[in-house]
Amino acid sequence: MQASNTPRAYGWVARFFHWTIAVLILAAIGLGLYAGSLPTGAQDQMQAVFRAFSIHKTVGVAVLVLALLRILWTLTQRKPRPLHPGRRLESFVAEAVHWALWIGMVIMPLTGWLLHSAAPGGFSRILWPLGQRLPGVPEDAALAERFAHFHETGWWVLAGLILLHVAGAVKHALIDRDGTMSRMAGHPDRAPEPPPARPALLSHLLAALAALAIWGATAVLAVPGADEDAVAPAVTAPVASGWAVEQGTLAIEVVQAGSPISGRFGAWDAAIDYDPEEQAGHVTVNIDIASLELGSVSDSAKGPDFLNAPAHPTATFDADILAEGAGPVARGTLTIAGKSVPAELPFDLVIAGDTATAKGRMQVDRRDFGVGSGYADESTVGFAVGISFDLTAKRQ
Ligand code: HEM
Ligand code: HEM
Repeated sequence: MQASNTPRAYGWVARFFHWTIAVLILAAIGLGLYAGSLPTGAQDQMQAVFRAFSIHKTVGVAVLVLALLRILWTLTQRKPRPLHPGRRLESFVAEAVHWALWIGMVIMPLTGWLLHSAAPGGFSRILWPLGQRLPGVPEDAALAERFAHFHETGWWVLAGLILLHVAGAVKHALIDRDGTMSRMAGHPDRAPEPPPARPALLSHLLAALAALAIWGATAVLAVPGADEDAVAPAVTAPVASGWAVEQGTLAIEVVQAGSPISGRFGAWDAAIDYDPEEQAGHVTVNIDIASLELGSVSDSAKGPDFLNAPAHPTATFDADILAEGAGPVARGTLTIAGKSVPAELPFDLVIAGDTATAKGRMQVDRRDFGVGSGYADESTVGFAVGISFDLTAKRQ
């Protein structure tokens, strides 16, 4: 058996990498979707989710390791010559898809691993003898969520590329019957001797650029829109204040089973008094706990194990707005589930005429509020909870 490629066919090393990685990628997609579709809430259900994600992650890391080895091997190899150098457009598309698959087989597991590394708190482990977290990646729920967005958008792109690629291979096998499959399937004797190829550097370069553009567009698509879901908050009670909130979002981020999830409160109000000259003021925020939307775990988050909306329907943040060196900060008391804890929310503020835009984020520990006290470790739900807001307010 020939290990290296020949002008006529792929050697066994390239074929081994191709088919092993193909099977593992398809398995990773299936496992990722399966793990995400499992019911959550009860401890035994969560154990099943952890197991499925652990296998998903391990398969994904195996793809990354094999893909890097495959790239090193391919750099030492010459590609078999194109069978139809005259079919320029077809060859170009096939090559652009190959390039995009090369990028995809690295970037998908890498973003998965980055998301796993940045997610604070407990997570389903990679069943791998080596390290768990990638070095140098800070634990940061917001960062983890960005990688998660890419990972969740990227798999669609990768799946689309695989479909195109397989459709091309099937066309060669069934319509052209030209031996393209044979030379990747390990029957080089069935592949015809390809015509001598002319070097086509420009076309290789353009194909690589097209592939980069595909993944660049994916990265852009995966950025959550700044104004996504920015709606006027449903005001829970009329408030008298110096500034009236016109629109805004109030969001939370938690890590559940190692994956960052985020949610929003649909109903809250903020009574804001703020004097721009003095750079001082006061804010009182009332939040309707029952209005929380947190994906598939909304009900359990609002239930007795966690925020307990029936017993504690409203959370409040009552704070003075002060000018600090780095910018304004709201310092006061946050009351969740009936427990009050000192809290500090730094934020950015821009005032143009009578319009103020502000956004900020703070992190709290759910244990300080007795939320999820039955979940004493982080394996199901992380301790850290990010609370962020952005809003636009008009001077009254
Ligand atoms: C599922 C993930 C898959 C990935 C990531 C993938 C990736 C690739 C890449 C990067 C190449 C270029 C190889 C090189 O130049 O060294 C290639 C070639 C090839 N793949 Fe796949 N592939 C996948 C699945 C499949 C499947 C399911 C089939 C068949 C039904 C297939 C058939 C082929 C064939 C026939 C070639 C050779 C094309 C040629 O000689 O120009 N691939 N694949
Ligand atoms: C070839 C490699 C990989 C592919 C094709 C892949 C694909 C997927 C898919 C299809 C999902 C489900 C997305 C959804 O429900 O919208 C998913 C989720 C996830 N994957 Fe991967 N994955 C890969 C590698 C990895 C690796 C290496 C890790 C970590 C070490 C990882 C961590 C995760 C996590 C934590 C989730 C849940 C993310 C979330 O929904 O927020 N993945 N992946």
